[in-house]
Amino acid sequence: MIIEPRTRGFICLTAHPKGCEQNVLTQIEYIKERPVTNGPKKVLVIGASTGFGLASRITAAYGSNAATIGAFFEKPPSEGRTASPGWYNSAAFEAQAHKDGLYAKSINGDAFSNEIKTQTIDLIKEDLGQIDLLIYSLASPVRTHPDTGERFKSVLKPIGKTFTDNTVDFHTGEVKEISINPAEGDDIKNTVNVMGGEDWQMWIDQLKAAGVLSEDFKTVAYSYIGSSLTEAVYRKGTIGAAKDDLEATAFKITDTLKGVNGQAYVSVNKALVTQASSAIPVIPLYISLLYKVMKEEGIHEGCIEQIERLFNARLYAENLELDEAGRIRIDDWEMRDDIQAKVLELWKQATTETLPNIGDLKGYETDFFNLFGFKVDGVDYDKDTNEMVDIPGLQA
Ligand code: NAI
Repeated sequence: MIIEPRTRGFICLTAHPKGCEQNVLTQIEYIKERPVTNGPKKVLVIGASTGFGLASRITAAYGSNAATIGAFFEKPPSEGRTASPGWYNSAAFEAQAHKDGLYAKSINGDAFSNEIKTQTIDLIKEDLGQIDLLIYSLASPVRTHPDTGERFKSVLKPIGKTFTDNTVDFHTGEVKEISINPAEGDDIKNTVNVMGGEDWQMWIDQLKAAGVLSEDFKTVAYSYIGSSLTEAVYRKGTIGAAKDDLEATAFKITDTLKGVNGQAYVSVNKALVTQASSAIPVIPLYISLLYKVMKEEGIHEGCIEQIERLFNARLYAENLELDEAGRIRIDDWEMRDDIQAKVLELWKQATTETLPNIGDLKGYETDFFNLFGFKVDGVDYDKDTNEMVDIPGLQA
């Protein structure tokens, strides 16, 4: 079929297998040139199909020859209907990994559930014995608690008072004011339940009890801090409360891991266009200004560049520097004073008329379409394309 983008607000309902494949191959090429010395060998990535998780899987596999198991929640294709992009990304990754002699298997389902945890542990036992790295890169709007069956929904709201500021509709380029009412009722608790650390801890507890964590095991989850411009809605909002909880969980997990000399870390990453971040109000305007400034300074990075730096310059480097709160920082370039000062200045000038010049709206838009395999260089979108693509190592 001929596959075209069908967008609805900040989501795209279609995905292009060839475009997704090309994105994966480009990331693989990037990592092949930057091997990770003393890197991981047996790796589980939760949230492995898109964004930071996909980049982590590729970096482990192609930087360090690691065997990877990827867990994710993606929609398979059906005749005439495309899969979700993470499905096609995983299919492309595994096809290439198998060609290159790398072990790669995937599990598609709700990682919050006990069933998926058990299935993953069984697979590790059978095929790998133990793992030495777990990347936790899950981003989800909902979670069904595995023990109580209660379903929680996360919200993106400020805490305490209404937040009013500008945002951009990146499809039309219109800069407009939005107001978001503050969290109420159980909003904070529910968001912490979905995006906080409880599920990460549950994974570790179950993996440890099964004896599948190797000596010197490491685990990393991803967090975000960001600028003063976004803090009311992000770091000081409901999602920030969840990130506080996630960060506190790292210390608890490190305690849990004492027996295997293990260590849990949170890595604070840079703001990037992903399916998760495009859903957050105000972030698109911030990102389009940030991209402009960081590209001008020659320090712009995408997910793969970020994660390559995480592995090579932080996690597997000789000295791992942590911030005052014990976190790994790869948002250091985003957070540089000169970068933030420039973004702040541009923010004051941003209108529908000025943004195309002072911001990188084009870069934002291209990145957004790229997430779904569209507008990718070298892909012939007029060519008939088979939407029915299998993931070779997908577990039944
Ligand atoms: P993403 O939307 O690209 O990836 C989310 C992943 O989670 C996908 O692999 C998806 O299949 C998986 N997933 C979602 N629900 C699932 C479920 N129930 N069971 C199994 N898998 C499930 O998101 P992104 O942006 O890569 O986010 C990953 C982490 O990085 C999140 O913790 C996010 O807060 C963090 N982060 C993101 C930043 C950004 O700007 N995008 C910046 C800093 C941190």
